[in-house]
Amino acid sequence: MEIKANAENIKTWLETINTFNSTPEFGTTRVLFTDVEVKAREYVKSEMRKLNLKVHEDAIGNIFGVLEGTRPELPPIWTGSHIDTVLNAGMFDGMSGVVAGLEAVRLIQANNLKHERNIIVVVYTSEEPTRFKLGCLGSRAMAGKLDEKQAKELIDDDGNTLYKVLTKLGFPVQDFDKVPIKKGSVYGAVELHIDQNGVLEKAGKPIGIVKTICAPSVFDVEVVGKQSHAGGTTMEDRQDAFMATAEIALALEKLGKTSQSEYTTTTIGRVQVIPNAVNVIPGKVIFSIDIRDCDYDYKNDLIAKLKEEIKAIAKKRNVVVNITQYNNDYPMKCDENIIKKLEAACEKENTSYIKTISGAFHDSMLVGEFAPVAMIFVPSKDGISHSPNEWTDFADIAAGANILTDVLVELANEV
Ligand code: GLV
Ligand code: MN
Ligand code: MN
Repeated sequence: MEIKANAENIKTWLETINTFNSTPEFGTTRVLFTDVEVKAREYVKSEMRKLNLKVHEDAIGNIFGVLEGTRPELPPIWTGSHIDTVLNAGMFDGMSGVVAGLEAVRLIQANNLKHERNIIVVVYTSEEPTRFKLGCLGSRAMAGKLDEKQAKELIDDDGNTLYKVLTKLGFPVQDFDKVPIKKGSVYGAVELHIDQNGVLEKAGKPIGIVKTICAPSVFDVEVVGKQSHAGGTTMEDRQDAFMATAEIALALEKLGKTSQSEYTTTTIGRVQVIPNAVNVIPGKVIFSIDIRDCDYDYKNDLIAKLKEEIKAIAKKRNVVVNITQYNNDYPMKCDENIIKKLEAACEKENTSYIKTISGAFHDSMLVGEFAPVAMIFVPSKDGISHSPNEWTDFADIAAGANILTDVLVELANEV
């Protein structure tokens, strides 16, 4: 490939997407189907069209930009990621994979590279669970794990269902049953993403090739105690929902730290204390639990142990604990054939790499249910992500885009 990825293109796309931001004073916030997110979608679609891609969307808002190959009847190759963010995020998580995909299709055309299969840049709807508490909505629906009925049940904090929001925005919800992708109808999918652990930076390597993507289980927990006076109620008489929560939190942390699995994380990221006043014993606490593992059985074993601990804590503290589980996703092993191609591309481009595990989840985790998947990681400063301090050099994304392009073309001509 003579013409290589251009870091300036990457920079321009990322900075422009970053102008669609509801918290410019503190990082980047682009929550699914908010005004800024819808505008960012329009921008990405217009850039796709400029790159000669044919653009279409499905009922849940996944965006497909198709670069037609010489044999469009063959199962295509996919690349892409997401453009929604968590609250007060950075400008790279997700967006890097989308713009690397754009740069790849630009390079394929600029270098006149033959590709028999179609190459499709995909923007998956809501990889982040920010609005509907459940992540990977678009890829989940593609994998047949989020249907119209569930879309009518998923509710945001304002009481809107996902289905209602999609309808209001004019997505073709009548075609919800056409969203799932049949196994075998996509030949392979490669997603570029920033490393959210710091392992690349520590190893001094520009590329990470992902072996396994850890998968989450997410819960909402409601602890119901008894609201009462902070001075009047003796220590013995309390049914303190917050103290019970604190004990659950420490039990959860211990289970994560003592896990025998290769990679486990346990997090409480969202806590609502009711009534949240200085001189009132909290009567209720609602919080989230996020448990991840690269091994499904280890994860379920940890969940079972946690439920036992919660039962004992509830009994001891005389509170009621209600648990709602949102998902229990499967960790995804990346495809050996694509991994080999990624290694060969790194060698060809004279780029060193390491193989790594992704503690973060990605749309590839669900795409892997119907197609062979692989992921390219590029370094992130100090491994910081989901933070305004997230940073990746544009040149590092460009280096990743070169590897991505090589492999997309290889796959597109593997017939
Ligand atoms: C996705 O961003 C995740 O939480 O891993
Ligand atoms: Mn993220
Ligand atoms: Mn991401």
